[in-house]
Formats: sequence, C-alpha cells, structure tokens
Amino acid sequence: MRPKGLLITIDGPAGAGKSTIAKKLAAQLGYLYLDTGAMYRSVALAAKRKGIPLENEEALEQLAREINLELKASSNGVWVFLEGKDVSRDIRTPEIDHLSSVVAQVPGVRTALSTKQKEIGKKGGVVAEGRDMGSFVFPDADIKFFLTASPEVRAKRRLFQLEKQGLRVDYQKILEEILARDERDQKRKIAPLIIPKGAVVIDTSNKKPEEVLEIILRQIKEKFYV
Ligand code: DC
Repeated sequence: MRPKGLLITIDGPAGAGKSTIAKKLAAQLGYLYLDTGAMYRSVALAAKRKGIPLENEEALEQLAREINLELKASSNGVWVFLEGKDVSRDIRTPEIDHLSSVVAQVPGVRTALSTKQKEIGKKGGVVAEGRDMGSFVFPDADIKFFLTASPEVRAKRRLFQLEKQGLRVDYQKILEEILARDERDQKRKIAPLIIPKGAVVIDTSNKKPEEVLEIILRQIKEKFYV
C-alpha cells in the first residue's frame, strides 16, 4: 500500500512515541518525515549558543526567521544541520528538552517556524509530527493522529532514550520535567497542545510501536480505500 501524496499529522505530548511511529510510517509510505520538534529544538540551541536571553522575544523571533536549518531524513531518523553543522545529538539533551518548550511559547517563533512547516507540507507526501500539526499548522490534513500515554510510561521511555545516548539521569527528575513540559505545551496562548478536531486518538502506554503503526496504517487504508 502506498497512497500518493497524503498529508498525515501526528501530534501528542513528549514521550508518546510520535517520533518512532512517524519515522516508520514515513519510511513505509515513502513520504517525507517532518520533525517539527527538531525545528524548535534547533532554535533553542542556536539561542543558547548566541547567548540570546529567553526573555528577548524579538531576538528569538528574528533568529527563528533567519535560522539556516536543514533536516535530512535517514534510515534511522533525521539528521539536523544548523548553519551547516550537524547538531543532531546536541538538540536532544535534557537542557534543550527544557529550552525548546520555553522557546516554543514565543508567538513570533511559532509564526516563523509554522510558515516554514506549511511550505514543506503543502505538496503532500508528508508525515508531520509535533504538537500543533493537526490543530493549527495543517487543519486540513488528510488524516490526523493523536498519540498519548501515561506520564510514567513517557518518562520511562525518555529515560531509556537518554541512557542510550550515554546520559545518566534520574527517573523522578525526568517525570517532573515531562509534567512541566506538558503544562507549558498545553497552557501556552498560541497553538497549545490539544487533540485536533477529527484526530484518531491512540493510547500507546501498553502497545509496541509495531501495533501502533498497524492501527495507523489500517485507519489510512480504511479512509482512502487503498
Ligand atoms: O517533540 P519534541 O520533544 O522534539 O519537541 C520539543 C519541544 O518543541 C516541545 O516541548 C514543544 C515544542 N514543539 C512545539 O511547540 N510545537 C511543535 N509542533 C513541535 C514541538
């Protein structure tokens, strides 16, 4: 099955399994995987490196508008290049987990990045992953998914990811940060994390990635008779 040119959105909180699923789905369909979290993370990293204070919203907006960012799909995800340099690992630290969700609250940053996202998504053949893909950036997407899981399961997954990167972190701290991130993402004024209208909601707490992928593929198949 390879439905042509659909625009598929996958939203949900941190650790719900979005990236794993979005990557696999895009690979299976031969689509582009648009990792919008990586865009917010890159702005956060660039701001940190340039010493831009998080209160300086104007400077953050300008940074987001002018940022030279390239996302290259690979078999195991995306490589992220900031000003031509590979920052794929640097944007995945606990510090950037935190900074990116703060930067994502700045309206001008959201406008700048969502303009770029719309440009990438408009041709279709895209799996767009984030917090506001189906609700705000692509309200007319062909099919929308919302993945969720309990905070404890999400914290364990994050812990495992960080350990794989060789980082030692405390489970309780990760759980607290996940809850704080949820709150920031859900309560921000612009494009907060919500279940988009018409989205298929999947609780991944007790499901393997293959099972979630199967549910998603079935939904696509049913909707588009492919
Ligand atoms: O999905 P992620 O953990 O890589 O995203 C990092 C942060 O970026 C997340 O805390 C909120 C923000 N984000 C957002 O506000 N909107 C998106 N579409 C994607 C991410």
